[in-house]
Amino acid sequence: MSYNITLKKVESSRLPEVDFDTIPFGKTFSDHMFVADYKDGAWTNLEIIPFGPISLSPVNLALHYGQSIFEGMKATLSKDGKPLFFRPEMHAKRINASAARMCMPDIPEDLFLEALHQLVDLDQNWIPPSEGSALYIRPLMFATDEMLGVKVSSTYKFMIMTGPVGPYYPKPVKLLVESHYVRAAKGGVGEAKTAGNYAASLLPARKANEQGYDQVMWMDSAEFKYVQEVGTMNIFFVIDGKVITPATDGAILKGITRNTILQILKAKGIPVEERLLSIDEIAAAYKEGKLDEVFGSGTAAVIANVSEIKYGDLVMEMKPIETHRIAHMIKKEITDLRSGVLEDTYNWIVPVAAKTVTA
Ligand code: COI
Repeated sequence: MSYNITLKKVESSRLPEVDFDTIPFGKTFSDHMFVADYKDGAWTNLEIIPFGPISLSPVNLALHYGQSIFEGMKATLSKDGKPLFFRPEMHAKRINASAARMCMPDIPEDLFLEALHQLVDLDQNWIPPSEGSALYIRPLMFATDEMLGVKVSSTYKFMIMTGPVGPYYPKPVKLLVESHYVRAAKGGVGEAKTAGNYAASLLPARKANEQGYDQVMWMDSAEFKYVQEVGTMNIFFVIDGKVITPATDGAILKGITRNTILQILKAKGIPVEERLLSIDEIAAAYKEGKLDEVFGSGTAAVIANVSEIKYGDLVMEMKPIETHRIAHMIKKEITDLRSGVLEDTYNWIVPVAAKTVTA
């Protein structure tokens, strides 16, 4: 199916005001955004319009009861200056998995992809060229029924905003093992990319910051024994040459960068395990000198080296970051795939093309 997206362009671009060398994450947005409304069982009013405020009723259901989901994805430039997406279909699928959990409507994959292509093609000059920078893309869907009362909304807005970003974590991160708060329990909404999961993380993160840590490391909700993920990322441990990441169990976000890493490791024949991993196993490996490296993964962060983990009274200081061979290799592989330096044998790279995308 092909969609008719109407276009209203900005009168003059804000791009000349932007310095790509000093862009903080998430504070600068490109000229245009995509907007669509869901009503009577269909997506309508498909538009690309100038980026700017939208008007909402104060009794909008999403504001009160949290029916709101999002994605985080990136576009980069190839070495010869062509705009590229990284695994856009997987993001289209994941937003619909989040939608299903939150009782929200599906966004047809071809609509999601067509809106992305048209928007990013239009604002492709906003993609920063330097390594480590990208155009961050934020698809968002939220309820728009106007009433009070906990119910499934019958109307929604789907939007896509984009903006140039530098690295999310410019330096290695320090993690505090959480022993009181939980991010998600099995059967909850931990696997969905829904706003409330991030709201729930704010107080624990603030407490960790007050102790000098960047993020918390979440443990399972039943026993506080098994690692789930860290603040805004999935997490990988290299123990005695083997890469281990917690298996997704319904409470952990199914990270697309996580999946990318697993596939790269398998393709390179590097031993990797997805399984239950207890914090005591990590502490024991540390004490035996076998905890070689720890890194977080996410679209925003890509790969974030971990320099320290605090678990109760035990402060685990990681080996020098220059020795974190797996994290460096993965980061380089993803960066080289995204810039077209490396041949994409995985079919992850999709050139941005404004042409109509059909299912
Ligand atoms: C992402 O990694 O894209 C996210 O959505 C996480 C958020 C903390 C920026």
